[in-house]
Amino acid sequence: MKKLALLAVAVLAVVSCCKVDYKDPNASVEKRVEALLSQMTLEEKVGQMNQFCGIVHVSNMDKKAQADNQDAQGYYPGINADTLRKWTKQGLIGSYLHVLTAEEANELQALAMQSRLGIPLIFGIDAIHGNCLAPDNTAYPTSIGLACSFDTEMAYKIARQTALEMRAMNMHWTFNPNIDVARDARWGRVGETFGEDPYLVGAMGLASVNGYQGDMQGGDDVLACAKHLIAGSQSINGGNSVPTDVSERTLYEVFLPPYELAICEGKVGSLMMAHNEINGVPCHSSKWLMEDVMRKDYGFDGFVVSDWMDIERLHSRHETAESRKEAFYQSIMAGMDMHMHGIYWNEEVVELVKEGRIPMSRIDESVRRILTAKFRLGLFENPYCDIEEGKKVRMCEEHRATALEAAENSIVLLKNDGILPLDVKKYKRVLVTGINADDQNIMGDWSAPQQPENITTILEGLCEMAPNTNFVFVDQGDSPKKMKQENVDKAARLARTTDLNIVVAGETSLRVRKGIKTCGENQDRATIDLFGLQKDLVRKVAASGKPTILIIVAGRPQAVVWEHENLPAIVCAWEPGMYGGKAVAKILYGEVNPSAKLAITVPRHEGQIQMYYNHKKSIKRYRLVDMSTKPLYHFGYGLSYTTYEYSDLQLSKSEISTDENIEASVTIKNTGKRDGVEIAQLYIKDCISSVTRPVMELKGFERVALKAGESKRITFTLTPKHLEYYDLDMNRIVEPGTFKVMVGGSSRKKDLLTAEFVVK
Ligand code: BGC
Repeated sequence: MKKLALLAVAVLAVVSCCKVDYKDPNASVEKRVEALLSQMTLEEKVGQMNQFCGIVHVSNMDKKAQADNQDAQGYYPGINADTLRKWTKQGLIGSYLHVLTAEEANELQALAMQSRLGIPLIFGIDAIHGNCLAPDNTAYPTSIGLACSFDTEMAYKIARQTALEMRAMNMHWTFNPNIDVARDARWGRVGETFGEDPYLVGAMGLASVNGYQGDMQGGDDVLACAKHLIAGSQSINGGNSVPTDVSERTLYEVFLPPYELAICEGKVGSLMMAHNEINGVPCHSSKWLMEDVMRKDYGFDGFVVSDWMDIERLHSRHETAESRKEAFYQSIMAGMDMHMHGIYWNEEVVELVKEGRIPMSRIDESVRRILTAKFRLGLFENPYCDIEEGKKVRMCEEHRATALEAAENSIVLLKNDGILPLDVKKYKRVLVTGINADDQNIMGDWSAPQQPENITTILEGLCEMAPNTNFVFVDQGDSPKKMKQENVDKAARLARTTDLNIVVAGETSLRVRKGIKTCGENQDRATIDLFGLQKDLVRKVAASGKPTILIIVAGRPQAVVWEHENLPAIVCAWEPGMYGGKAVAKILYGEVNPSAKLAITVPRHEGQIQMYYNHKKSIKRYRLVDMSTKPLYHFGYGLSYTTYEYSDLQLSKSEISTDENIEASVTIKNTGKRDGVEIAQLYIKDCISSVTRPVMELKGFERVALKAGESKRITFTLTPKHLEYYDLDMNRIVEPGTFKVMVGGSSRKKDLLTAEFVVK
């Protein structure tokens, strides 16, 4: 009898859930998802779990990649754009990536809306620093520069504006933030990260997630994707997608915390697995990563997407699956929800379900997660964008102003013997040369070339800033790989005729520059000094005897040791985005006082790698025989045109219990003659611990605006969360003992005041 009653309740529940019309915007998302799921065929479900490159991308590939079956480039053998249109209309595709125009997005969406159930597509794109992989969108500085501003509000603002520009062209899902903790300057992708510190990466990542996702209640928000899990930034020799072998402790202490934050506090909607294997297990088949840590430990409830064709690589690269179909099986059973991207998925996954190897419940789980995101983004109600209205949002004045402000705040002054800011009256004839002097390389990776009128190159910025100066330009091409000795020599000759020389050197990372790029995804290096003839260029120009300053435009640290020792000024602009030229010029001529501080250590030489500030004490047991063990520039370092003095560091208590907060207050005075913004940093050290701890760890930072002569007292709060770590048994604890607090303007010992407190 009891059983019968239960059955009746269950039947009623199913019937009442099926009564909900999934198209009813007033029904709850959960009910709409269940109602829709209950009407879907297996083929439609598996299709929701698959993604394809856009039809324009595929058509362009047709020409190039057909010859060598280049499916890795997004070419699908035997399939053309019309097949994709047909499958979309049949409801067999859930998502597209690399659709670059609103017209294409709306066209594909119209097809999806004609499918049996009218499930909208979700369009994903790498909007890493603005949606600038697509034309006519704002290109902000890349993440490494943004991190050097230590400005979480700015990270939020950029993400919010990017979300608006994305929705303005019917894009719903950014494959960002990249919250890899960058620990190897040889790795080509440093530029798309927030640097080497887990705390800073976590804070910037969380702000970005919040900015992208808003309240996830409708038309203004986009889904964020925290990536890449995990630790591909500390791979063997800094190679992209090559194995990473790190301890469980390092994973938990360094690489996982930003994800925990993005999930627990940011409720990030999607996660992307990393190309690499981790400790012998490819990330794309790691149940430990996808299920145990992300879902069970952190409570992740969004969906997991693969990286670009990486499930297939369980078979073709990692050789842990004997066939592609087996690879699909392994990945899905480990927790994968969506496949980026390709043609074999639908057929082979359907087979796996029909063969009884993958239970329908496992498929339902993934589809449920994907549909939930689509409903929450309001795609069923607003499947299209208004193209004309969208043009008013994209690259609007407000967004351009943000791009400029972010660039100004991200440029790090590395050396200045007093030549900067430049005296416009003194330097009348100025040589400007170098691969990045008059080039869109300032936009960095994940940006396509934009309309020239929307970009201010560094040469253009200088000309705008000092219209009466005679700037003599010697072109060195757009890549260090293409430089010619004759142009180097020409610059060297002209350098003797000027009052000042500006060399704009670094790397080439603009996405489309295949073959000539030196930085960006899959552009790893063995060395980290100035690439190729650029070294020669700087030395020869400097040999003119005229003051020579170096501007670096690059997505990774550059070991400019000779340059540091021989040039009067060095400015690191990172990849400052569309208005990078304006920002650099404003800093050089003193209209803006530089404030940024390094979010990553700059080594003297690649042989010092791994080099990061939060290392263990015993790393310095012996000195190197052939060079200093110190970095060229420390984490947190950066100069200004004014000076700051820190004094009177006071702690609110001398003793606390393990569950108490403690406050650290310090006075900062602008002791120079210019107004400025100082980035104050707080580090801690657990003095004696049962497991070794870093010599220092960032646990607080604040941008403090100070007028010339002004003082302010600022206060940092340390909570138990800041003090805890994983003990011998990997339990998170606050261990009693003495803690050191260090506050100052960089991680360099001489820049820090210290105090101590005891945890009882
Ligand atoms: C990158 C991802 C990116 C994807 C789609 C991959 O090669 O590793 O970060 O989101 O391509 O463009």
